[in-house]
Formats: sequence, C-alpha cells, structure tokens
Amino acid sequence: MERVPFAIIGCGGMGGRHLLGLKELADAGSSNLELVAVCDLRRDNADHLAQQAAHLLGSRPEVYQDLATMHAEVGELQFVDITAEATAHHPLAVAAFELGLHVLCEKPMGLTARACNRILEAQRQSGRLLSVAENYRRDPMGRLTRALLDAGAVGEPRLFLDVSAGSGNTIVITPWRHLKGRGGMLLDGGAHNADLMLYYLGDVSEVYARTALWETTRHKPPARARVASFYDRWQTEMPDSIEATAEDTLSAVVSFQSGAFGNWTQSYAAHGRSFGHKVIYGSQGSLVPGGTRNGVSPVLARAGADDASGTALLESAPDYHLDEVTARLFGGDRLTSYELPFPAADRKLLALELHEMGTCVLSGSTPEVDGLVGRRAVALCYATFESGVLGRPVTLDDVEAEAAGSYEAEINAAQDI
Ligand SMILES: NC(=O)c1ccc[n+]([C@@H]2O[C@H](COP(=O)([O-])OP(=O)(O)OC[C@H]3O[C@@H](n4cnc5c(N)ncnc54)[C@H](O)[C@@H]3O)[C@@H](O)[C@H]2O)c1
Repeated sequence: MERVPFAIIGCGGMGGRHLLGLKELADAGSSNLELVAVCDLRRDNADHLAQQAAHLLGSRPEVYQDLATMHAEVGELQFVDITAEATAHHPLAVAAFELGLHVLCEKPMGLTARACNRILEAQRQSGRLLSVAENYRRDPMGRLTRALLDAGAVGEPRLFLDVSAGSGNTIVITPWRHLKGRGGMLLDGGAHNADLMLYYLGDVSEVYARTALWETTRHKPPARARVASFYDRWQTEMPDSIEATAEDTLSAVVSFQSGAFGNWTQSYAAHGRSFGHKVIYGSQGSLVPGGTRNGVSPVLARAGADDASGTALLESAPDYHLDEVTARLFGGDRLTSYELPFPAADRKLLALELHEMGTCVLSGSTPEVDGLVGRRAVALCYATFESGVLGRPVTLDDVEAEAAGSYEAEINAAQDI
C-alpha cells in the first residue's frame, strides 16, 4: 500500500493520541501513512513523541521545533497534522499551505472565525487539501444516529436538546483551556457539540444566547480520568490554581435552517452532580443519539411502540452501513453498539480521520470535514459568544463574514489575527 509521508505538529496530549491512531491503523494492516517527522516548540515534547513513535511503529521520526526547517529538511513531506493548541492553528496552517503542503488540523479549525477565514484563503491560493479532525461524528454510533434521522425514524426533526453541566471549579485538562485569548472550554469542547448539531440536523441559521464566566479561579483536579489521563506526563507542570478569563457557561436557543430549533446548554462551572443529555424530538418520535467512544446505542421512541435500541434499530435505518475502514476497525458494517474501553474506541476514531486524510491526498478527493464544515462549527460557537455580549440573536453568516460583534474582535486583536 502506498504511504503518504506526514508530520505531526504539536506533541502534547492530542499529538500522542494521533500517534496511537496511527498505530491502530498499522495494526489493522490499513496504514496509508508514514510518520516521518514531529515538531513542537518544546523540544522535550517532540523528543518524547518521537520516542513513543519509535517504540510503537518501529521507526523514529525526525524531530523539529519549527515548520520551515522541517519542510526544508524533510523533502518528501506531503501533509502536516496540526495537533497544537488552537492559538497555533492558523499560523501553522497558513504557513503549511504557503509551503505547498496539505493540512489536517485538529478542531476547532481556528481560534476565531477570522482565523478560519485566514486558513481558507491560504488553502484557496495553494489548491491543497484541508481536513478538520472532527472525531465524534465518525463514531459508529454517530453514523447510526445520522442514518436513523436520514431514514425519517423520528419523522421531521423539530426540537434538539443538548444539555451538559459539570467540572465545578477544576482545571479541565489544561490551563490554556480557560483563557479567552487561547480558546476557552466552550470553544474547545463546544466545537464538538456544534459539529454534531450540524451533522445531525443540518445548517444553523442563528443563535440567541446567554453566556457567563462563573468560576474565575480554577484549581488543579485531584485525579485524572478518561481524556485527562492522556496528559499524565504534564500533570506536575499544572499549577495549583489559575485565573480563568474564558466564559465557562452558555445557554442558547439554536435555530436550524430546516425550521427545527433547540436548546444548547453547556457549563464547565456546574457544582454538584454532573449531567449530560442529548435528545432529538421529531413529528413521529424521539431519538437519543448514540454515545461517543462508549459504544452506547441510540434509543428510538415512537408512540405505540417499545423503545428501540441495539439491533432493533436496524429496521428503522435500512441504508445504514459503515464505510469499509470503520467496519474493519470496529468489527462490523451495521454496528448498533460496541464494547470497547474508551482509549481503544478513541484511537480507532483518530485512525479513521488519519486514514481519510491519506486517501484524500492520494486520490485528490475532498475530506468529509473540510474547511467550510470546520468553520461552520467555529461560527456556531462564536455566534453564542457574540450573542451573549450583544443580547440579541446572531447569525452564523454574520460571524463568518466577521460582521457580528466585539467578542472575537478582542481575541483577533490580542493574537494579531
Ligand atoms: N478531537 C478531540 O477529541 C480532541 C481532544 C483533545 C484535544 N483536541 C485538540 O487538539 C489540539 C491540541 O490540544 P492538546 O490537548 O493536545 O494540547 P496540549 O497543550 O496538550 O498540547 C499542545 C502542544 O502543542 C505545542 N505547540 C503550541 N504551539 C505550537 C506551535 N506554534 N508549533 C508547534 N507546537 C506548538 C505545545 O508545546 C504542546 O506540546 C487542540 O486544538 C484541541 O482542541 C482534540
């Protein structure tokens, strides 16, 4: 199989997880990629990832601290996989396009809508490919949810509820995730919620939101679990407390272009029992979407029928089939649930987005989450932030046109975007 040479830029938690995705592909005999270099501003992080790669893949990538030198010295490079924090996405992606490279970029695509526009403009000029690494929708349970909606399992979708609350006043994963100028949790985590809303129910026209920053001092969490366990290596670097500047709570009325609407409430400053629930109500029933990286089946409820989950869903989604690589990695092409530990499911989803990038580079096809899709999720997040400041509804089109308001303008000015 032909292998596309690429480099990972950003060797922190997510850089390590992408490496595990690559290992997953190799183990499945499906690798169409070759990791030839890694790059990080921090030499120790890049060295560590290169060491891990040597251990997992049997060959040590070259180590760099800047993209230009890496490009000059690694002539075969075809794309970069940007897993640096959001602040660095647009400078790195723009520079990569200017060097003639393709780009796979972690979500959120850019720090602001303007950052996304800078990336899109550079991409247009280069004619190269851009894929935004959005993993949640690729989960087989996300694919099944979408297939059920496409098949009209709930009739016409009318109402979408996406409510989650937790985290209290702890530092969530890394300190930078609580700083407005570096992409707060409502962008970092919210980009996933936004992408799933758009994936399940189609385009969003406008948002009317309240936002708040409730916890201005956040504290080092006592223990690490799930996602945070990927960051153990940096645990000792985390300060005991930080001053947070990014909003930690939003509650929004979201209007879809289809006429459906819904509530998106997300708080990273909720004390007490944490909570999370999504549900779509339609003209003929309701659907609780499937889980992400836990294999939990969607649940379909219709009047006069028992709730359906698992294999009972298949008759309501006759066209549901996973693509060949997903089916191979997860073990079936009409999966309605799966049992895998979180890290195993996580690396399979990352394997899928890496494999898709390799396929697109080799064939010239367009990635599923291209720059326009990636920018829309960022715009949905920023529409809530701008609305929270303005006290009125904000359209996503205005956000993308950089005509919405002052919230992101402050970040653009601070980051020189
Ligand atoms: N899809 C998911 O499920 C998921 C999960 C976690 C993180 N992410 C995304 O991955 C990205 C990275 O997050 P993380 O948690 O790994 O952050 P992190 O802080 O653990 O790691 C970021 C790394 O990038 C490096 N870096 C920063 N600027 C750089 C630059 N200009 N050039 C080279 N290296 C640079 C840092 O030194 C650090 O090693 C973010 O965009 C985040 O939203 C996605």
